[in-house]
Amino acid sequence: MIVAPSILSADFANLQRDVEMINRSTADWFHVDVMDGVFVPNISFGFPVIRAIKKHVQKPMDVHLMIVQPERFIKDFKDAGADHLSVHYEACTHLHRTLQEIKKHGMKAGVAINPHTSVSLLEDVLPLIDIVCMMSVNPGFGGQKFIEGTYKKIKELRLLISKVNSKTLIEIDGGVDLTNAPLLLKVGADILVAGNTIFSSDDPMETIAILKQSKLASNV
Ligand code: DX5
Ligand code: ZN
Repeated sequence: MIVAPSILSADFANLQRDVEMINRSTADWFHVDVMDGVFVPNISFGFPVIRAIKKHVQKPMDVHLMIVQPERFIKDFKDAGADHLSVHYEACTHLHRTLQEIKKHGMKAGVAINPHTSVSLLEDVLPLIDIVCMMSVNPGFGGQKFIEGTYKKIKELRLLISKVNSKTLIEIDGGVDLTNAPLLLKVGADILVAGNTIFSSDDPMETIAILKQSKLASNV
C-alpha cells in the first residue's frame, strides 16, 4: 500500500522542513492539492510553490487538481514537476481526451471523483486511468470528517476494476485517520492520502509509519 501525505496541511512557512521530513519518512508519494476558488470554495497554491517543492522532494509528486478546465494546464503541471496528475471527473467535458493528454506528457493519469459521483460513470475510461482519487470528503479543505459511504464505493470500484481487467489504483482522499485506515485497505484501497492526521500529530514521522503498517492491522 501507498501513503501519500498531503502538503496542504504542512506548515507553509516551513515547507522545506516538512518536505524533508516526508523524504526521511516511510511515505511513498507527496500529495499536492491545487485549488482555484471556482471548482472548490478555497484557493491553495499554484506553480511557484509546486516548483519550489519539487526542488526538495525525493518521491513522486501526486498532483490533485481541484480546478475547472484542468486540460488548459497539463503541460504547465508537467513542467512544474508533477509525476501524477489527477483531474476531477466533474470538471472535464472531454475526460477521455484529457487523460490521453496527461499520458502523452509522460505522467500517470488520475481521475478524482466527488462523494456524489458514482464509480459506475468511470467504466468506459477505466482502462486509461492509472489512479482513481476517490474523495471521502467534499473537496476544498483539509481536516474534514470522513464520509462513511466511501467503503461501499471502494468495493464497487474494486469490482469494476476487475471486470474491465485494468491496473487502476484506488486512492482515498479526505478524513483518513489511524482508525479508518485498516478498514479502507481491507475493502480495497491501495493509496491513503492523509493531511491533518499526519501534520497535526505530535510525531508526524511516526504517524506515517503507523499508517504504513495499517495493512497488517487490516488482516487481524
Ligand atoms: C481536500 C484535499 C485533500 C486534503 C486531505 O480537498 O483533496 O487532499 O488535503 O486532508 P485531510 O487528510 O486533512 O482530510
Ligand atoms: Zn487531494
